[in-house]
Amino acid sequence: IDELLAEGVAGKRVFVRADLNVPLDGTTITDDGRIRAVRPTVARLAEAGARVIVASHLGRPKGAPDPAFSLAPAAARLGELLGTEVAFATDTVGESARATVAALTDGRVAVIENLRFNAGETSKDDAERGAFADRLAELADVYVGDGFGAVHRKHASVFDLPARLPHAAGGLIATEVGVLKKLTEDVTRPYVVVLGGSKVSDKLGVIDHLLEKADRILIGGGMAYTFLKAQGHEVGSSLLQEDQIPAVLGYLERAEEKGVEFVLPVDVVVSAQFPDLKAKTPGHPATVAADAIPAGVMGLDNGPETNKLYASKLADAATVFWNGPMGVFEHPDYAEGTKAVAQALVDSPAFSVVGGGDSAAAVRILGFDENAFGHISTGGGASLEYLEGKTLPGLAALED
Ligand code: 3PG
Repeated sequence: IDELLAEGVAGKRVFVRADLNVPLDGTTITDDGRIRAVRPTVARLAEAGARVIVASHLGRPKGAPDPAFSLAPAAARLGELLGTEVAFATDTVGESARATVAALTDGRVAVIENLRFNAGETSKDDAERGAFADRLAELADVYVGDGFGAVHRKHASVFDLPARLPHAAGGLIATEVGVLKKLTEDVTRPYVVVLGGSKVSDKLGVIDHLLEKADRILIGGGMAYTFLKAQGHEVGSSLLQEDQIPAVLGYLERAEEKGVEFVLPVDVVVSAQFPDLKAKTPGHPATVAADAIPAGVMGLDNGPETNKLYASKLADAATVFWNGPMGVFEHPDYAEGTKAVAQALVDSPAFSVVGGGDSAAAVRILGFDENAFGHISTGGGASLEYLEGKTLPGLAALED
């Protein structure tokens, strides 16, 4: 983007592919981290006199307009953060978008409606995606890719559109890639990785890769129960991916061969029912040993002994990567495990990277100061796939 700004963008229509996929409660944004993260790029372009068109997806609508997934709240928040009026187009490549872009004057900003209201955005068919990218290209003169959270998606606005316009990477993507490079190239040891979240299957690739890189891996969240089951323990009605047990056993074996320390919960907080996250009614939690979860209850958070253990395993780290909450942090009865990991990172001098929509939102929603962490990534799947060493379509498209 520096080169682009040096060449001059005044009067040019600049398409910024952002990731404004923020968590919403109705039309209320519960964590605006992703909007704040892309604001500097939008502001720099606007200050340089560009006519800025900001585009993003939100959620997973089915390729057709759906008011529940409108970007209008995100557009309004972007306007507040910029301290300026932001125009909003109620479609993506239709009449509203064309008219809104045509009405933009130098230095002004518009947001167009959710890209995924068009089937072409996410289509697996190259021609269909290409046809949608052609229509998006008509709106702009230049493309800036700055939606780091979506760079792992081979979607029209991420992958096909930059091939049709002069393009550059935005400041957010440059920062994110710079940080993740540090974790893949010259990592300072001990390198401790904390993985949580619900599904083991989402983390297999990254575990595979991290067994070659990390010194210690701490497991929490819903995925921990598949590990506990693989070790022969009963897990009651906890989340379980039985089909992943052979893979998990393979990883535990390889970790031992490689001298990578794998740490699992020693106690967990359980309940007979999944909590009501909206009403936040009391969850009736109880703490049990992780190797003796009774039938009929499910693990919903790490227990107090695990929290102490994980804090001690993080205390001597020089580098930490954390992806995925340790429990159902949205409910106060099951937030302690996630809080304990966040607090351990705040207390530690290690360079800590918090990756992922959920864990990044968790640290902010739980009230931690985001400046107390080395870096809070805006990308969940994107940062995991980067660490797996995969080619990310949205970065490859900006490289040539
Ligand atoms: C994310 O939340 O990880 C990104 O915005 C990508 O969203 P997606 O998983 O729906 O493609």
